[in-house]
Amino acid sequence: MRVHVADHPLIAHKLTALRDETTDSPTFRRLADELVTLLAYEATRDVRVQPVEVRTPVGPATGVRLSQPKPLVVPILRAGLGMLDGMVRLLPTAEVGFLGMVRDESTLKATTYANRLPDDLSGRQCYLLDPMLATGGTLAAAIHFLVDLGADDITAITLLSAPEGVARLESELAGLDVPVSVVTAAMDERLNEHGYIVPGLGDAGDRLYG
Ligand code: PRP
Repeated sequence: MRVHVADHPLIAHKLTALRDETTDSPTFRRLADELVTLLAYEATRDVRVQPVEVRTPVGPATGVRLSQPKPLVVPILRAGLGMLDGMVRLLPTAEVGFLGMVRDESTLKATTYANRLPDDLSGRQCYLLDPMLATGGTLAAAIHFLVDLGADDITAITLLSAPEGVARLESELAGLDVPVSVVTAAMDERLNEHGYIVPGLGDAGDRLYG
């Protein structure tokens, strides 16, 4: 599994404002939207393209366009929804699927309450959106859903990640044939006893929509 931690002053600047407990929901939503667009630039580095010929006012030119089948973007509800607009701004032709997942706050186990994914993801590149990679249970389950439907390339975009969650993904996905990447704005220190990322930003879903 490839893990890319963004190293960019603009991303760090926006993330700092996002972490700040005095940041209100409208500002939090705007910052999350801007951050995912910046992260999407890195996350789509290997998006599949095919050559195409165009004619400029000066003459013929060779360029590229996105390959078919088109990529699939999957926000994990609720908090991942706050990242959807920022992602499809860069990939406007992508198809969008939805996964609704919630983590039990005492057991920290993730369960799925909504699954609206295409039936067949054979040959598809997929982008999962979730602001937080904490214990990794949510993303591990989401990645397995996509792999079971045939996805052959998966990139998860997160705003914050914990080393414990990355380690869990690495171990749970070790036998997979499918390339998986995580692109994150920051790798934080650790999880606390409640499974919250430290220093983190609190509960992303509540801060977006609470
Ligand atoms: C949060 C967060 C992730 C998940 C991360 O969602 O948005 O989806 O927890 O935790 P994990 O890595 O330990 O599985 P939550 O369950 O609070 O749901 P919400 O998005 O509806 O707020």
